Amino acid sequence: MLPRDVISTGPLILRPPVAGDAEAIVKACNDPVTAWFLPLLPSPYGPQDARDYFDMAEAKWEGGGAEFAITENGQYVGSISARPPDHWGVTEIGYLVAPWARGKNVAARAARAVPDWLFDHGVRRVELQAAVENVASLRVAYKAGFLEEGLRRDAKRLRDGRYVDMVAFGRLRGDAVASGAPYLPFFEGGQLSDGVVRLVPLAVQDAGDFHRMLADPTVAAYSMAPASTLADDERRCRYTGYWWVSGQRIELAIRDAASGAFAGHLQLTQVLPSLGQAMIGYSLVPAFRGKGFMTRAVNLLADWAFANTALHRIVAGTEVGNTASHRVLERAGFSKEGVHRELFPKPGGRRVDDVAWARLRPS
Ligand SMILES: CC(C)(COP(=O)(O)OP(=O)(O)OC[C@H]1O[C@@H](n2cnc3c(N)ncnc32)[C@H](O)[C@@H]1OP(=O)(O)O)[C@@H](O)C(=O)NCCC(=O)NCCS
Repeated sequence: MLPRDVISTGPLILRPPVAGDAEAIVKACNDPVTAWFLPLLPSPYGPQDARDYFDMAEAKWEGGGAEFAITENGQYVGSISARPPDHWGVTEIGYLVAPWARGKNVAARAARAVPDWLFDHGVRRVELQAAVENVASLRVAYKAGFLEEGLRRDAKRLRDGRYVDMVAFGRLRGDAVASGAPYLPFFEGGQLSDGVVRLVPLAVQDAGDFHRMLADPTVAAYSMAPASTLADDERRCRYTGYWWVSGQRIELAIRDAASGAFAGHLQLTQVLPSLGQAMIGYSLVPAFRGKGFMTRAVNLLADWAFANTALHRIVAGTEVGNTASHRVLERAGFSKEGVHRELFPKPGGRRVDDVAWARLRPS
């Protein structure tokens, strides 16, 4: 049985919820983001739901789990709970922060303190799950010292009934807790622009344009991936935030800065922190070719990467015959490093050579 302790962490006090929290809980649970990512909460959420929650919290404590109100200066700012630990000393936590207290490290602080407290009370392993689309919660998990352990496909539903993949995290008693600094920080202000092109995270709203571009024969001819459906590409666009926040890759839509039109796609992938190396890949919608858009986009991303990440080498690979792509890389400051013979498989069992390029961190 877990003791009904009060946990103090920085400016926060975590204690069992009390009736005086009801008004704030009702407000927090009526927030659309909360309702979206916690679809089992009643919606709309009323005073009776808060009373039911107090009964549920009591039962949780009675049953060996924990249910805390997160408070700051005596005021409710969120909730965090732990299931009763199982036979193996394993539990799972869940949390929410009221919209008026977000972005101030409240969730990350609480999601670090509660496992520390659980480890002091016999728990060995704490689990946590966040939807691939819940970037704020994913970031909380990394900041709170959890390690990513895998993807649970279609494991839960969001409020609109759509199934969503869940990222599974775990923290073990004795795990060293890293600083949580992201290898790939988000763009400050959410975008990069030189006034002619604008780079923004590839979003689900781009899926149609992205799909049409990938299906264009002049793009498909240089793609290593099998042909994709619109549903595949929509799903891929929903992964942008997760891939970025987990340091795996950056997926960008290139927009015409003047009109906002979707002009193409640029990615930073194959991120290898141990080598300080990542690879770029790109495609442009035919109507936007011949205007220097891709050179501008590659320059923007490479300049940003060397200024904001520990990357030392940005590499690219092009087919030997792809002259337009060679010109982009030359103009964007890449140098040819060699040829990988017969790297790219082509239809009919043929294979073609890959020209390897790199741009190095400026000294
Ligand atoms: C998830 C949630 C608890 C985060 O609470 P919080 O107190 O704002 O979290 P923190 O301030 O500790 O950290 C949030 C991080 O996400 C980042 N973030 C938030 N929204 C983001 C977005 N849309 N894209 C990228 N990053 C985002 C913040 O910048 C911050 O990271 P940083 O410290 O590196 O800048 C809160 O958004 C919430 O209650 N959501 C609804 C309920 C929910 O999703 N619960 C979790 C279910 S798994």
